[in-house]
Amino acid sequence: MLRVEPLLESHQRDIDGLLTPRTALDVAAGTCHAAVYLAKRGLHATALDCSAVGLALGEQLAKREGVAIETVTADLAVTELPGGPWSVVCCFRYLDRNLFPQMAAGLAPGGLLFYRTFNVHHLKKATAFNPEYVLQPGELAREFSTLEIRSLSDGDDPGENTSWIAARQPA
Ligand SMILES: C[S@@+](CC[C@H](N)C(=O)[O-])C[C@H]1O[C@@H](n2cnc3c(N)ncnc32)[C@H](O)[C@@H]1O
Repeated sequence: MLRVEPLLESHQRDIDGLLTPRTALDVAAGTCHAAVYLAKRGLHATALDCSAVGLALGEQLAKREGVAIETVTADLAVTELPGGPWSVVCCFRYLDRNLFPQMAAGLAPGGLLFYRTFNVHHLKKATAFNPEYVLQPGELAREFSTLEIRSLSDGDDPGENTSWIAARQPA
């Protein structure tokens, strides 16, 4: 069953209003739920992950949901993001700070970034989690300062263990 990421759902109107090229890149897509959701909103969605197994499950999910997605098997430790321009770049539950400039640069004018992953507050309960892979307070606003912020939760609430940003590339 399709799992809809709340950050995407809460910006559904922004997504539906996107102009051409109406392309989307789901970074570290796993089993491609975000890519499939975006394909269902009418975007040409590409899901990238290092796991061909996850991507194959994503293709099956897309088929069940009546849409098609592109998949790219790539190791982001040694590969750059595929060139845009992308109308949407999204990434959920994956942190590679080296990708931040590429994610912003790949957006088409007016394109949307959606990003959400764990922050420092996650470490209070998940004590074995690698602290390198959590966001610091204020990090998203700083790293994506060239974009126009649409919504942001950046580690200021100690009860919230993820940080997220939705932001637009200036037109
Ligand atoms: C926690 S999962 C999140 C998957 C999906 N975004 C979601 O929210 O359901 C992290 C994903 O990152 C992928 N990943 C980890 N290291 C990677 C790398 N170096 N290059 C590409 N993908 C990677 C894993 O295969 C996995 O699918």
